[in-house]
Amino acid sequence: MIRLTLAAAAATFASAMTLALPAAAQDACAVEGDRWDLDDAGVAALYDCMEGQMLDAYTKEGDAIAGAYRDWTITATRAAVAGPHQERFLLTFVNDVATEQYLKFEDGDFEMPVGSILVKESIGVRDGTARVGPLFIMEKVDTAEAAEYGNWFYSGIQPNGKPLKISQKFCHDCHGGYEGQDSMGYPLEEVRVSVN
Ligand code: HEC
Repeated sequence: MIRLTLAAAAATFASAMTLALPAAAQDACAVEGDRWDLDDAGVAALYDCMEGQMLDAYTKEGDAIAGAYRDWTITATRAAVAGPHQERFLLTFVNDVATEQYLKFEDGDFEMPVGSILVKESIGVRDGTARVGPLFIMEKVDTAEAAEYGNWFYSGIQPNGKPLKISQKFCHDCHGGYEGQDSMGYPLEEVRVSVN
């Protein structure tokens, strides 16, 4: 597991602050100003405030991937707003099968190993308050149905723990555009973890 010291320090600070607040205020995580302008510490504090709520939400119905992904590899130094996925803050985790290849952020002729699972947490913002968004999932499979979608199976979990209703085509129409990246979008360059 890759951790960022700055984020951890900010998170510790933020949770110390949270303890001093009344119970009702703990659930509301405020985002002041423009979400695109939050600095690293601001995003870390937001993430710390939302982290538990996201996990509670995604695991509500006992989904196996939701219960497992927090032990996987974090691919970015912090959550970031990328634009697609409705301008939510996004943070991607990948399982053991996917880790080595994913972290190369390769652009070229390659394919992720079958069994790779990529999950993306999302945090939306409405009226200055952060909200748990869906957990987005891509799984590399070897089935006839998935052939037209780059051998990816797309799915997701709603904030109430139930499966997200999606069409493979909807997700892949956009993801398929990342041709040299095996249909993966990758985190924004400035937040990608570096493996040296
Ligand atoms: C309009 C384009 C678009 C659509 C539609 C879209 N995505 Fe994405 N997706 C992206 C981009 C861009 C990224 C990388 C963003 C980032 O992490 O900063 C991404 C990242 C992801 C990731 C993280 C793995 C990676 O690097 O690609 C998952 C998992 C994912 N999307 C699942 C889905 C699912 C499931 C759907 C359908 C419900 C979907 N996406 C629809 C553009 C899209």
